[in-house]
Amino acid sequence: MSGRTPVITACANGPLLVRGDVEILGDDGEPLDNPRRTVALCRCGASAIKPWCDGTHKLTRFSTEPPPSTS
Ligand code: FES
Repeated sequence: MSGRTPVITACANGPLLVRGDVEILGDDGEPLDNPRRTVALCRCGASAIKPWCDGTHKLTRFSTEPPPSTS
């Protein structure tokens, strides 16, 4: 690890971008192989390569905006 402070950026209508020195664990508690120094974590639930974002959020028109009020 390089000692870079982790920064997480919540992208509008998209993934969480993780930059910096951070270890990401799978649900078994084992470290995942981070493919890049900056990784995108899916938060739409539609990615085929979870926990990584594969861009599917664009196809599903995932929105981080709250739904319009119906009252
Ligand atoms: S946030 Fe990109 S595929 Fe889910």
